[in-house]
Amino acid sequence: MVAMKKRYFITATGTDLGKTWLTAGVANVCRALGVPVRALKPVMSGYDAANPAASDAGVLLGKVGGGVTAESIAAISPWRFAAPIAPDLAAAREGRVIDFSQLVGWCRGEISRHEGLLLIEGIGGVMVPLDAQHTVRDWIAALEMPTLLVTGTYLGALSHALTALAALREVGGMPQMIIVNESPASSVGLADTLAALAPHTGGIPLLSLRRDHAEDLAGLAQEMLRRQ
Ligand SMILES: Nc1ncnc2c1ncn2[C@@H]1O[C@H](COP(=O)(O)OP(=O)(O)OP(=O)(O)O)[C@@H](O)[C@H]1O
Ligand SMILES: [Mg+2]
Repeated sequence: MVAMKKRYFITATGTDLGKTWLTAGVANVCRALGVPVRALKPVMSGYDAANPAASDAGVLLGKVGGGVTAESIAAISPWRFAAPIAPDLAAAREGRVIDFSQLVGWCRGEISRHEGLLLIEGIGGVMVPLDAQHTVRDWIAALEMPTLLVTGTYLGALSHALTALAALREVGGMPQMIIVNESPASSVGLADTLAALAPHTGGIPLLSLRRDHAEDLAGLAQEMLRRQ
């Protein structure tokens, strides 16, 4: 067992960019190294209670160890909604709202309790609304947590990445690292994307992950354990 207390919030420039893939992969690597890992998906839309293992929380639990049950999902993902749409809209369809201060309080409790590596996967991109007053970036800012910003190599990713950085900068939530995760069938590769981003990121380290090279996650995990 490695004594440490490290925590990361994993956000992205948009949806479907690899937050869960990366978070689960890093959790897996760190667990194999003997680091106690807890991975949370506090807010989740598109949750199918008939197939919990397929949900983001289910994927994370699968890598952290322990069974995927309705109870274990609820323990790491208290705000679950069925509709596969933005969380505030998904909540509204169930006549619910996401109570922002409760969400922040719940995360703070987890952060202070857990010894080891704590990973919190956000939802969608940095400006996804959580309620009428708050977006994901406010959640990040409130937690004052080291953040990883995941982006891709798809056409449009450069602008999305720099827009996300500008949005985070505005609330003092600059990421600790930017992860460029190779998008499927992109016309520009990782090297060109990194070269284009580097002059605009104010010195924030950029790290790349190739598609279908899970071994790249070991390097990211080492880097995450080295920091903080
Ligand atoms: N580097 C990669 N190599 C292979 N497959 C990947 C890689 N990154 C992501 N994927 C796959 O791409 C899909 C989308 O990734 P993932 O679900 O992790 O995105 P996400 O950002 O968590 O999305 P959401 O916003 O829905 O939470 C998944 O099927 C995932 O397994
Ligand atoms: Mg996900």
